[in-house]
Amino acid sequence: MHWRSKLIHPGAHAPANFRSLATPTYRGSTVVFERQADVSDDWRQTEHGYTYGLYGTPTVLELGARIAEIEGAHHSFVVPGGQAAISLIYLAFCRSGTHALVPITAYGPNRELAAGLLRRLGISVEPYHPLIGAQIAKLIREDTALIWTESPGSVTMEIQDVPAIVAAAHRRNVPVALDNTYAAGVLFDAFAHGVDVSMQALTKYVGGHSDLLLGTVSVAGAAAYEAVGPVYKQIGMAVSPDDCSLALRGLQTLGVRLERLEKTTLEVAEWLAKHSNIKAVLHPALPSCPGHEHWRRDFTGSSSIFSIVFDERFTPAQVISFADRLTLFKIGFSWGGVTSLVIVYPNLDRAGQDYGGRLVRLNVGLEESSDLIADLDQALGKMDTPA
Ligand SMILES: Cc1ncc(COP(=O)(O)O)c(C=O)c1O
Repeated sequence: MHWRSKLIHPGAHAPANFRSLATPTYRGSTVVFERQADVSDDWRQTEHGYTYGLYGTPTVLELGARIAEIEGAHHSFVVPGGQAAISLIYLAFCRSGTHALVPITAYGPNRELAAGLLRRLGISVEPYHPLIGAQIAKLIREDTALIWTESPGSVTMEIQDVPAIVAAAHRRNVPVALDNTYAAGVLFDAFAHGVDVSMQALTKYVGGHSDLLLGTVSVAGAAAYEAVGPVYKQIGMAVSPDDCSLALRGLQTLGVRLERLEKTTLEVAEWLAKHSNIKAVLHPALPSCPGHEHWRRDFTGSSSIFSIVFDERFTPAQVISFADRLTLFKIGFSWGGVTSLVIVYPNLDRAGQDYGGRLVRLNVGLEESSDLIADLDQALGKMDTPA
């Protein structure tokens, strides 16, 4: 063959049987079939074999399989991010003319999707109070197609009574979805508590280093698998095998990172709870957190994110100056990485609860708690003096 053809059809190869501890990164769009009769375009690659890179290369399916294993799921679809996972779940379970319920404390872009694209598609999404529990039964309608839960709630951290919501939903044959990102898919056992479809942003704890965006949609059984799979295919939720390779590496240290993050975060939260500038600490493991009793009953641990509410003597400008004065806590969204973060919520939209610009969310990283406390102490100490 001409050397140009050899570039495409090489005869020389590296020796086979490299036995490494790392999962290989398989990139690829085209899947080569042995014979024309074998050609297919099937998203069920786990059962029927590979057909197209869009539905996952072996690296992508390996990540999905490992997430499914630790979550106890029937199957986990890997998607480009947490928000993509949320969209996929809505589109899989809702259709034009149906109704869905979502807590007012759900991740902001979830509610934005509900009020934007989903409304345009004729799906009506009704907000409910996160601590509604069994009373959700009163909101379920003939056309209710999906009930979302997210526990703890974004920013205000309410722990939901997920088993009570599941029981009410299942009496009416309505599937329940859970955003299980806070628990990294492991500190709350979604499927043991009856959830039908559970998603997490792997962007946070599984990635763990603030350098990738990925998500998973995990299904409890065959019914949810058949609901999600075709939509996963139709909307082309491709992910990068390179990002999956990073997530696979992140998974190996998830256990030690979560353990350490829980300990440091509790030390910081308990110190803040005693500070005279702070009115309330919203951390799931502290009794001051709304729904704390559900956390004690249903969770096996806490992670790295919580919020504080400042005393009413402080103005929103003073609260902002507190965040600006922190040095180890960087100002930024997304969490679950190695670096501590802070973000002020001056205009939090929470029906019936006005935080008056005094709520701040903290994410604790892998720094020493003594250094984080010293940083908080200096910023809190300067709040009474003008910036
Ligand atoms: C609770 C929760 N769910 C979903 C997401 C979305 O994840 P991603 O940023 O990967 O789209 C986030 C991101 O902040 C989140 O906090």
